[in-house]
Amino acid sequence: MIIRSTIDQIFETARVEEVIGEFVQLKKSGSNFKGLSPFSEEKTPSFMVSPVKQIWKDFSSGKGGNVVSFLMEHEHYTYPEALRWLAKKYNIEIEETQLDDEQKKVLDERESMYVVSEYARDYFHDILFNNEQGKAIGLSYFKERGYREETIKKFQLGYALNEWEAFSKNALSKGYELKYLEKTGLTIVKTDRQFDRFKGRVLFPIHSMSGRVLGFGGRILNMTEKAAKYLNSPTSEIYDKSKVLYGIYYAKQSIAKENNCYLVEGYTDVITLHQAGIENVVASSGTALTSDQIRLIKRLTPNITVLFDGDAAGIRASMRGIDLILEQGMNVKVLTFPDGDDPDSYAKKVSSEELAIYLSDNPKDFIKFKISVLLKEAQSDPVKKADLVRDIIHSVSVIPDRIQREIYVKECANLMDVSEEVLFSNLAQQIAKSLQDKGGVRYQEIRQMEVVKKQHQELPKINQLEKYEREIIKILLLYGNQKAEFIDWVEGKDSRGNLKLNKEIYENIVAQEIYLNLQEDEVAFTNPSFQNIYNVIIHQLNQEQTIDIQHLSQHEESSIAEVTSHILMDDEKYQLSDWESRNIIVKPKEAHITKLVNDVVLNLRRILIAEKINEITEKFKENKPIREDLEEVMNYTQLRKLLFDRLHRVV
Ligand code: CTP
Ligand code: MN
Repeated sequence: MIIRSTIDQIFETARVEEVIGEFVQLKKSGSNFKGLSPFSEEKTPSFMVSPVKQIWKDFSSGKGGNVVSFLMEHEHYTYPEALRWLAKKYNIEIEETQLDDEQKKVLDERESMYVVSEYARDYFHDILFNNEQGKAIGLSYFKERGYREETIKKFQLGYALNEWEAFSKNALSKGYELKYLEKTGLTIVKTDRQFDRFKGRVLFPIHSMSGRVLGFGGRILNMTEKAAKYLNSPTSEIYDKSKVLYGIYYAKQSIAKENNCYLVEGYTDVITLHQAGIENVVASSGTALTSDQIRLIKRLTPNITVLFDGDAAGIRASMRGIDLILEQGMNVKVLTFPDGDDPDSYAKKVSSEELAIYLSDNPKDFIKFKISVLLKEAQSDPVKKADLVRDIIHSVSVIPDRIQREIYVKECANLMDVSEEVLFSNLAQQIAKSLQDKGGVRYQEIRQMEVVKKQHQELPKINQLEKYEREIIKILLLYGNQKAEFIDWVEGKDSRGNLKLNKEIYENIVAQEIYLNLQEDEVAFTNPSFQNIYNVIIHQLNQEQTIDIQHLSQHEESSIAEVTSHILMDDEKYQLSDWESRNIIVKPKEAHITKLVNDVVLNLRRILIAEKINEITEKFKENKPIREDLEEVMNYTQLRKLLFDRLHRVV
């Protein structure tokens, strides 16, 4: 066991923002950092890290805690694993109490599997460089493929001797247990004998995001043999191929920096591109991308560029998987290579400069690309074309962002020569169907559906909610870029050790503050125009860190331009008259803005909660309430009281 003083030292040294920053792309936001939740699929950041308090909170999943609990949640480490990881990162020497035999036995299984895998990686790598057979067969193979020595070392490539038990015997002689050799699949154990899984193959270690070895891919050298080209580690407690991306450990920094991730098929594509200077690249390892894998990328960037292997059949097959990426709200581009080249072969044909230019010049928007490919096939066959339209609109329908969907529908109408109305109605149908299939309808999605339906109807009457929604937009437009002080209530203890709320004052940009507050409550605006503007504002904020009023008032979407100018004009009028009648300068002071923001957010919450309570009690009229309903009402009522208190305290 790790002794107490070591644990204390680890906690004192570790910085939660540094540690989390290795897994999640964090942006400074006031005194905090924020980023996309690594625990859910979200488009707008609701994951907060507080360097002051040394804690993190994920508003989308409700999880939160300190630096160690983050590693336990995120990397699925046990407590001691997390401590060891931190000790290694911060160069802290671990002092342990002596283990007795019983404790040794229960030493964590996963850790033992990692340790065995990491030993295997070192062993196979050593064989590649220092063993005669390793050099003659393995190393020369990699060199023939054009890999430089530094590349081979960086990716820790290896070679397994072409002998039945070379590795297993070696590992056993070093004291590694057969149990873990078997569990990791490195050794295949039969009743009468055991042998090395990867015998005679060159090896590609597969790393987790944090660089631990999870498993291996082994490529055969003699293609005449009747064995699979690649043999991979079997699924185990540490390796699940649907949850890893080959190369992510080496790519993560570059993906975040370039704000884009190239997705390729194979191990060799990743390595060749790396060697040619393109480091933001990962491989799905030949299978369709899973949502877990997409989530790994999404932590680092919302942008993904899929590099297709050459042939048309392959492209058609891979296109299907791309809907899954769209569904997660990522921006997808695709890129093909000339003459049936794959990324590996193309990168070898051209210089690094040419490759970089090719990669930056040729990505196409996925939807447009799909249309162009399918249109070619449909030619003038009307039946095929109808299928094509449905297929394309299906891709559009999975995109979570409504504005994006609308833009696509308009473009698709143009490109496919079909009327917008038909496409919009098909879109609404497909969304409705997918909601039905999912068995539940999310609040926000109903709202979005309503917008599609209401397209040609007049705007709904102004209700109380809309009043505050409008107020929020107004604050964003007028003071969004300003800084102001805000108040947080943090749980603490008084001198007698009783729980009490402490006031904490921090500075933040007004727009960020509003955004975080609404995000926390997952507020969607009821008024579609306000929601539209809000989305654009938040997008600006994420991209440019500032709100550009002019861009909004001149926005290509007329409703956005209109509402923006209305609100701005209103305020002008108000300010003028106020100024005249009361002879005061109305330009608000910082304290005034603080109060404006606080009030509007709290009021909005208050109404939302009242609506919720209403909604639930409405149900009671028809059905007898079940326990969950009553609990929900109670929770909401409590929340309402809390808000009420706060409204008055803050004021
Ligand atoms: N793959 C696999 N098992 C196979 C074939 C392929 O796991 N029998 C996976 C591997 O991860 C491989 C990827 O699918 O990297 C792409 O396959 P392929 O294009 O055949 O291999 P490359 O990596 O391109 O290898 P090479 O360049 O040596 O042909
Ligand atoms: Mn390939």
